[in-house]
Amino acid sequence: MKVTTTVLETRQLVKEWKKEGKSIGLVPTMGFLHEGHASLIARARKENDIVVVSDFVNPTQFGPNEDLEAYPRDFERDSALCESLGADLIFHPEPEEMYHDPCAFVSIDTLSETLCGKTRPIHFKGVCTVVSKLFHIVAPDRAYFGQKDAQQLAIIKKMVLDLNFDLEVIGCPIVREEDGLAKSSRNTYLSQEERKAALCLSKAVKKGQELIQAGCSAEAVLAPMRAIIEAEPLAKIDYVSMVDALTMQPVENVEKDVLVAMAVYIGKTRLIDNFSYEV
Ligand code: PAJ
Repeated sequence: MKVTTTVLETRQLVKEWKKEGKSIGLVPTMGFLHEGHASLIARARKENDIVVVSDFVNPTQFGPNEDLEAYPRDFERDSALCESLGADLIFHPEPEEMYHDPCAFVSIDTLSETLCGKTRPIHFKGVCTVVSKLFHIVAPDRAYFGQKDAQQLAIIKKMVLDLNFDLEVIGCPIVREEDGLAKSSRNTYLSQEERKAALCLSKAVKKGQELIQAGCSAEAVLAPMRAIIEAEPLAKIDYVSMVDALTMQPVENVEKDVLVAMAVYIGKTRLIDNFSYEV
């Protein structure tokens, strides 16, 4: 497995692989890899000749009071995991390599204005910008993203469609801990007590799934979900919403495919979870 830190050396490798007619799968990450990331890498390994993992804590997607500095990092461990999963390359640039006093950004309207975009107004502009850059640098045939970040996945799919990126975006299911908590690099911030409290998210997801399958309207699904979270003293709801799966706009009834998504503070840690429902 190779490790690159510059755009130039990454492009040189990509050029050689393309010359040999090899297909490339890209898994963009911010590192501190866990089984959720591993599931994306394993899927990419099955479907491509070459697997590239990017490992970059992207500063432009963090707001001024967010956890950019504190975000966990362990490149040695990440690189051992990628090697064990059969990745061919980790691209691990420094922020100075990716950004030189930038003036050009990629942003997306409408889809980025609801859910996480309300609390994190610059987040998806940063995500779209860095993912576009990675697409240009690695020129993948396929790119893999988790359903865990369902709004991000919907936004990247729409960006690829609208801006004619020549690649396929593949969504992969949420990987959870045994007790239901969705795996996340941010779970490391939780104290023992908070870790227990964090189970209210996956419990609410389970409840919501039962209610939606029973034919309930949005509010009849969301109110009991909120009640589960509000019963947990360490939890504070940012949002619990039902939106159209394509437009990310709120819906009152389940008439099209929907996404039911939430963000909840457990102490200071903001966690997200969701489920999709297809009609
Ligand atoms: P990061 O949070 O590191 O996640 C990288 C990818 O792993 C994302 O597509 C995310 O949805 C997926 N992932 C995380 N936890 C998962 C889980 N429990 N199950 C399945 N997939 C999971 O998302 C980002 O980084 C960044 O925004 C990025 C796209 C890399 C741009 O900087």
